[in-house]
Amino acid sequence: MADPNKIHPTERVAEVLPILPKQPPSRSRSSSCCCRFICATIGILLFLLIVVAAAAGVLYLVFKPKIPQYSVDSLQISDLRLNLDMSLYARFDVKVTATNPNEHVGIHYEKGGQISVWYQKDMLCAGKIPTFYQGHRNVTKLDVVLTGDHESGSTILTALQQQQQSGGIPLNLKVSAPVAIQLGGFKTMKVKVRGDCSLVVDSLSTNSLVSIQSSSCRFGLKL
Ligand SMILES: *[C@@H]1O[C@H](CO)[C@@H](O)[C@H](O)[C@H]1NC(C)=O
Repeated sequence: MADPNKIHPTERVAEVLPILPKQPPSRSRSSSCCCRFICATIGILLFLLIVVAAAAGVLYLVFKPKIPQYSVDSLQISDLRLNLDMSLYARFDVKVTATNPNEHVGIHYEKGGQISVWYQKDMLCAGKIPTFYQGHRNVTKLDVVLTGDHESGSTILTALQQQQQSGGIPLNLKVSAPVAIQLGGFKTMKVKVRGDCSLVVDSLSTNSLVSIQSSSCRFGLKL
């Protein structure tokens, strides 16, 4: 027989129900729930950010990435003349040494890399850097043919000849190379390596090796 003092489950529900209106109205409950959702999302994002930053820091410490270096070994002017339309045709053959100083980072030279030679603000000629993979601590010599036409040919040629008579022609050799970084087994992010070498050459005589009187290079990265 049922104990009269024992509350029947349905009675218990009936007893609980009248309490319901005392609970906060459903509207504010949904907004606090929404706030909790936003807080949780921000929390997770912050957490992920910290994890990514920590991982980047660890990768940096483990791999100690360094910017690749370039040096200009030789420069030969195979052609430098005025075209019939008075534009300046230039063809330079340059030998550049590209050094990957990294012990743990490989470099993929991707499509679109170029080397160009400038006289002040005028680009004389440009050529493509071949695509290749450069392993750890590898030194690779690149032979690059640079060609170009510049429209205000006689002005530049006169300026170059005057420079030559005064002892040395200042030129800039610029490297712009999109590369992908190889960390262990992973080909990771792409960056653009930029190099700028200031050269002073003694002459512009064609088909003989031009002697480079001085050369200094600066390097940088662009994400
Ligand atoms: C450097 O890398 C190039 C291109 O991958 C390769 O041909 C050359 O043999 C490597 N040099 C050394 C010393 O490993």
